[in-house]
Amino acid sequence: MNKSISTTFFVDALEDNTASLPVRTEAKIVATFPEKSVVTCRSLDVELFANLSHCKLVASSDPRPGSYLYWGGEDLDRLFTSYSQVVWQVQWNDHSLTVVHMTWDTGCGGDSRDWVIADTTEIAEQFILDLERKTHDPGEAILVFSGGCWNRSESLFHATQKASFEDLILADEMKSIIRDDFSTFLESEDRYQRLGIAWRRGALLIGPPGNGKTHCVRALVKELDIASLYVQSLSHHYYTAEQMWQQVFDRARGLRPCVLVLEDLDSLVNDENRSFFLNQIDGFEQNHGLIILATTNHPDRIDSAIMERPSRFDRKYHFNLPSIEERSAYLENWQRSLSSETGWQSDQILVVAEATEGFSFAYMKELVISSVMSWMRSNNESFVAVLLAQSKILKLQMKTEATQATQAT
Ligand SMILES: Nc1ncnc2c1ncn2[C@@H]1O[C@H](COP(=O)(O)OP(=O)(O)OP(=O)(O)O)[C@@H](O)[C@H]1O
Ligand SMILES: [Mg+2]
Repeated sequence: MNKSISTTFFVDALEDNTASLPVRTEAKIVATFPEKSVVTCRSLDVELFANLSHCKLVASSDPRPGSYLYWGGEDLDRLFTSYSQVVWQVQWNDHSLTVVHMTWDTGCGGDSRDWVIADTTEIAEQFILDLERKTHDPGEAILVFSGGCWNRSESLFHATQKASFEDLILADEMKSIIRDDFSTFLESEDRYQRLGIAWRRGALLIGPPGNGKTHCVRALVKELDIASLYVQSLSHHYYTAEQMWQQVFDRARGLRPCVLVLEDLDSLVNDENRSFFLNQIDGFEQNHGLIILATTNHPDRIDSAIMERPSRFDRKYHFNLPSIEERSAYLENWQRSLSSETGWQSDQILVVAEATEGFSFAYMKELVISSVMSWMRSNNESFVAVLLAQSKILKLQMKTEATQATQAT
């Protein structure tokens, strides 16, 4: 069908890159296919639709696509192609369609259009609807917001699937409280509605680095098994803060019930964008079915309007430095898996737990790993002796880091 799209189609369209570009290009397409219906839209992710096996796709070689190869996507064993301009030949259900995709630089960012060319307007619209529905469902991926747009991350999804509550050590009843809090919430939509309470939940996980906030968020996301969205960064050179928060919440609302993860909330919300964030988070009706999980190392940097109004974050969970019992429990797990190789005995756990006062779990992990490495280099030294020696080195390192942090503030 696209034989009639001229070889120089993209070159001609881009030659006069003014505000009328999309109008002129569309007129040309309509004139080229007088017997077809042409429907215009934007941000149609035809490639993702094909990757999810909902259609077959071939990039026409004439006109030659504007494209480039790049390395560094989710699969490091292959190259990916990014298309700025391309004519796609699409097989979807029993229909053959053509999609012309164009992006261009407007001088203050980029703009794009996708023209769907089909036998009838109805077919084109059904195709667009099916595509939008299926490509917006994250499926086996987590949606990550960065650079002003959402992208599916299968690698984050798989990393999340590895997190579990089993290997997370938390004080007292905290683990079951957190798990029950959210699983009960998810099962109780009808009850909330009968009671006239907004069916939305927000929790803020607070604590110094390396004590399981991210681990807990991931274990929850895995356990809840609903769509998950993760905000990585909100900086963009021309979108406003208001537009960014709007995009974040719009997408989350479209996927409810879902989990919206805001890691390091203190760095996402600042003086410039706080009011927009509060506007979004306060939407009573709109936020039906939203679970917001936020984390922070710096509760002192979060405005009291966010920290102290209960309707914004219903619960605050504290992930503090582990007590001696928690450090012992953590070391027990390691001892069980290392004992046969290293000869580390269970009655030598407490001495290490006592020597690691003030360590976070992340530092405990570093202690064990660096000790294993040092022990492998040593000449059959006692593993506990290596652990104790390494704990002294790490303590010094922690002290230096703490002094540097104080000097920096
Ligand atoms: N309570 C815990 N029980 C078991 N392992 C833990 C615990 N806390 C942390 N860890 C381990 O320590 C590492 C760092 O944990 P995590 O990333 O969850 O910390 P965090 O609180 O999110 O830190 P940050 O504030 O720097 O983001 C992970 O490998 C995690 O599994
Ligand atoms: Mg974290």
